[in-house]
Amino acid sequence: MSALPAPVHLPEPDWRFCVAPMLACTDRHYRYFARLLTRRARLYTEMVVAQALLHGPRERLLAFDAIEHPVALQLGGSDPATLAAAARMGAAAGYDEINLNLGCPSDRVQAGRFGACLIREPTLVAECVTAMHEAVGIPITVKTRLGVDEIDSYEHLARLVAGVRDAGCRVLLLHARKALLNLDTRANRQIPPLDYARVHRIKRDFPDLCVVLNGGLATLEDGLAQLAHVDGVMFGRAAYERPLLLADLDARVYGGMPLPVPSPTAFLAACLPYLDTEFARGTPLRAMTRHLCGLFHGRPGARAWRRLLSGDSGSAHTPADVRAVLALMA
Ligand SMILES: Cc1cc2nc3c(=O)[nH]c(=O)nc-3n(C[C@H](O)[C@H](O)[C@H](O)COP(=O)(O)O)c2cc1C
Repeated sequence: MSALPAPVHLPEPDWRFCVAPMLACTDRHYRYFARLLTRRARLYTEMVVAQALLHGPRERLLAFDAIEHPVALQLGGSDPATLAAAARMGAAAGYDEINLNLGCPSDRVQAGRFGACLIREPTLVAECVTAMHEAVGIPITVKTRLGVDEIDSYEHLARLVAGVRDAGCRVLLLHARKALLNLDTRANRQIPPLDYARVHRIKRDFPDLCVVLNGGLATLEDGLAQLAHVDGVMFGRAAYERPLLLADLDARVYGGMPLPVPSPTAFLAACLPYLDTEFARGTPLRAMTRHLCGLFHGRPGARAWRRLLSGDSGSAHTPADVRAVLALMA
């Protein structure tokens, strides 16, 4: 794992294995590191609020490295014209897909009337997808939960899905639980029960849609088992907390010669050229190394490693410090 893989542009869009959008996690640094482990998985940005793209630091919000392809920009919003304008910016920046977030239950998002609370409004969602679809030539996809609060019938979900399909969405990413808006975001990822059967039923009832299942997948085996029922799987926390999980998937999901999974230290060594380049450009080391804290998950020294790399007490300030740590661990 010393040389960086060349960027790949897949001939056909493929959603078989996706890494979920995660705020404060799947920024461009994490995505770059993930791409050193898998050439094929589809990567998603953190949710970017469409309004912020129009009026905020657009260049920073859209920044990504060419190595990240295939990479999707996730947008949050509920105004069709604003979302269309934001989608246009994403497409012009070179993203491969624009994804609309219908899953986020945070208070901030509820105040803006988007994210999970949009599940209540299938007509508005369809209008948003239509506007985005007409604005760009790349796929518009939707990531949604199965319902929200008391709006959790299969019929409602099917109405929502039919609406986005008729609006031009061909790929649906389903987080297999509903959102409870009185719970915080963390509890919302634990408490509402997972319902994979409902996701499978959507696939059966909408065979023309590419359906991707998300939620609670912990191992590659979990994901491979789901591929018997759906077109793709999306990993969130497992891919972030245990990034080396991604190293196995190109061979296991897409076929081909299995490559040896790198050791955490070999992977860290492969990240060093990126740390050097970005650090020289002025990116603080911790903005990057914080994504590598989970690298030694479950291994001896994991806690010491985390302490070293992140937080106020961390003592790694430059790539040279990381090299020194690596030398100690070799
Ligand atoms: C820290 C964190 C941030 C998240 N941010 C987003 C987000 O920006 N957009 C989104 O659609 N989902 C977000 N999610 C939800 C994930 O995309 C995913 O749907 C959820 O974690 C369930 O998948 P998992 O069980 O594999 O983690 C976030 C999840 C986590 C843990």
